[in-house]
Amino acid sequence: MKNFLITGGAGFIGSNFVLHLLGHYTDYQVVVYDKLTYAGNLDNLLEVSDDPRYYFVKGDICDPGLVTETVRKYEIDTIVNFAAETHVDRSIMDPDAFVKTNVNGTYVLLEVAREQNLERYHQVSTDEVYGDVPEGYSSIESDPVAPRSPYAASKASGDLMTLAFFTTYDLPVTITRGANNIGPYQYPEKVVPLFATNAIDNLPLPIYGDGRQMRDYQYVGDHCRAVDKVLHFGEIGQVYNIGTGHEMENLTMVEILLDALDRPGDLIRHVTDRPGHDRRYSLNVDKVRQLGWEPEFTLAEAITMTAHWYRDNEWWWRKIKMGEFQTYYEAQYGERLGSAGVS
Ligand code: NAD
Ligand code: DAU
Repeated sequence: MKNFLITGGAGFIGSNFVLHLLGHYTDYQVVVYDKLTYAGNLDNLLEVSDDPRYYFVKGDICDPGLVTETVRKYEIDTIVNFAAETHVDRSIMDPDAFVKTNVNGTYVLLEVAREQNLERYHQVSTDEVYGDVPEGYSSIESDPVAPRSPYAASKASGDLMTLAFFTTYDLPVTITRGANNIGPYQYPEKVVPLFATNAIDNLPLPIYGDGRQMRDYQYVGDHCRAVDKVLHFGEIGQVYNIGTGHEMENLTMVEILLDALDRPGDLIRHVTDRPGHDRRYSLNVDKVRQLGWEPEFTLAEAITMTAHWYRDNEWWWRKIKMGEFQTYYEAQYGERLGSAGVS
């Protein structure tokens, strides 16, 4: 394991993972393969742009020709697939790209990995594949998948195809299912960066429904270290949950965030809920802990650190919020917030 193809490496978690790999392993070469959708951003990789161990290829994971050519050219031995359409609300508005990238794109990568006899294919997946989790229970890796949004269904399909390639073709695969990540370079459509950047500008924070939904807001650096652990010590053919193993209500997350930014509670607006909103995710993370991994940060620490990163890095997010984002924001929140709430 030495020459990595990091698909989706210009996105939020992918770019954090690239920085992690290049920061920890001097002999690894990293090729980022990314379509640069609205969520892909080369600013995330500025600090490694001159590193001789880093290469960038602009491409679609649904393109088998370019994926094969890239794997051959850079003598890739390991694919880590972060590439995906990732926002649940966008999957509700228009699921098409989710099926193409998350289902067909995953299949294309698996086929290339098989044809080129790669050492490892790693699929980055999500706790959303387990669906809504009742109070008092935490999902384990052998639980059946029960996705409820188009996004979650497309990710569950990717997982099932990955496991089928292991069973049928002996492809050396691993899968990780992560809880909500937060931290630097997250596109400000996701709740924590959206609320942090809105709060900085004294704009309303549109909380869906009663705000009592529960999520495990883990720090992205902890997630990246866990994916690294699974790549190096995980068992082939296995799935590993990744999260802190604790969750909190969205209203609690907002309180911590407003406190970190010294902003008032009256910015909170309860708005119409997300259709089919999963009330609670909760992961049992014993299996990844047994590999010797522990999260470094609590949810509260992760939220505070993230809020401060957005406060200190306006260069990164202001230009995003001025572009395509405005059309999306109007479509998603215009009616919910009324004219006063849309920037
Ligand atoms: P993101 O939306 O920030 O980035 C996705 C990246 O994939 C972008 O750089 C985009 O340009 C690229 N991409 C999209 N379609 C592509 C295609 N067809 N070909 C090549 N590149 C393409 O996503 P993220 O939040 O960093 O998530 C990364 C992965 O982790 C995803 O697979 C997601 O399902 C999973 N995940 C995310 C979270 C989370 O909280 N963000 C939690 C668990 C799992
Ligand atoms: O759980 C892992 C998943 O986490 C990843 O697989 C997804 O890619 C990622 O987008 C994230 O999904 P969520 O739907 O949990 O994240 P989001 O940030 O969209 O929402 C988090 C919670 O906040 C959820 O309960 C919905 C709520 N929310 C979200 C937005 C955008 C609001 O109340 N208001 C909002 O404006």
